[in-house]
Amino acid sequence: MALSKNPLVGLVGWRGMVGSVLMDRMQAENDFALIEPLFFSTSNAGGAAPAQAKNETTLQSGYDIDALKRCEAIISCQGGDYTSEVYPKLRAAGWTGHWIDAASTLRMDPKAVIVLDPVNMPVIQSSLAAGGRDWIGGNCTVSCMLMGVGALYKAGLVEWMSTQTYQAASGGGAQHMRELLTQYGTLNAEVKALLDDPKSAILEIDRKVIAKQRSLSAAETANFGVPLGGSLIPWIDKDLGIGKGRDEPGWGQSKEEWKGMAETNKILGQGEGFGSAAIPVDGFCVRVGAMRCHSQALTFKLTKDVPVADLEAMIAADNPWVKLVPNTREATIQDLTPVAVTGTMTIPVGRVRKLAMGPAYVGAFTIGDQLLWGAAEPLRRMLRILIER
Ligand code: HSE
Repeated sequence: MALSKNPLVGLVGWRGMVGSVLMDRMQAENDFALIEPLFFSTSNAGGAAPAQAKNETTLQSGYDIDALKRCEAIISCQGGDYTSEVYPKLRAAGWTGHWIDAASTLRMDPKAVIVLDPVNMPVIQSSLAAGGRDWIGGNCTVSCMLMGVGALYKAGLVEWMSTQTYQAASGGGAQHMRELLTQYGTLNAEVKALLDDPKSAILEIDRKVIAKQRSLSAAETANFGVPLGGSLIPWIDKDLGIGKGRDEPGWGQSKEEWKGMAETNKILGQGEGFGSAAIPVDGFCVRVGAMRCHSQALTFKLTKDVPVADLEAMIAADNPWVKLVPNTREATIQDLTPVAVTGTMTIPVGRVRKLAMGPAYVGAFTIGDQLLWGAAEPLRRMLRILIER
């Protein structure tokens, strides 16, 4: 279904962290000029809609199916529980509009496309032509990775990929970011006097820090469950417990690790459901003390030996946001860090080099702001695709 001119577009979850980033991006790209926004709330129905509202200045209840049904498209940043509750009711009530969200609920549904248009515009177009109406943003790690090295997949060069991630606190949510910073502050306060004294012993500082980390209260670790400040957590999301024997591939994967292969292939329109073999993707997903950028060290087994300069040229030419970082110490420490990337649309890819295992083995390192390309941006771009077609 094509959208009409100035379509009524519902916005749900626009006040949360991802939703706020989405609103900023929609504002920056002038998306509101092309739509009549209808703002929903799950906690403040009847309140005043934000400044971007035009004719619809009252917040509607996010659970009001009749109000939701008025929209030609709905963008939800409300999370999976909301999608699980509202989406089936809306479709059961006969709503035929376009549903766009960032939750994992519908991602693997055969009817849904995982949207990342700089990477999979052909998949989006073919679903549109077939009447597709469900457009779901991918897992942040997968989306940021494919924005960086999608070129190698598009060229059919990837036999398999292993990824080791360094995922930021924001992937857990706003409260997780606060918890991380509070822990950093608590640890600093614990040794502040010793730090201020240049003659203090570093091992005494270290002893006090580890003692404090180990004695953080349940309240101080409520979100991550264990200390993250000054530490890391090599498990993200659920234990899938998928019932495989421990010698079978996939045994012992976290859900975040499982998404790597499942979503990469689905975004690219291959593997199960597309009548082709899936490309193996696996590795370890690790939470680190970064704020909102997910980083990944990638290992590729290529289908053939390709010179590094050619690989770099392909990666650099793939889309306007990818930025090839020369594999030098100086360029890497300046441009290939979460601090350099946060708040930008840039997806740097660096450390591209052949590995000791042989000429078909290539390493790379990439970073993305998981709230931008990892969450909000693919959603607003999908709305633009619907508006502009
Ligand atoms: N699962 C991701 C994380 C969130 O925990 O970092 C973005 O999909």
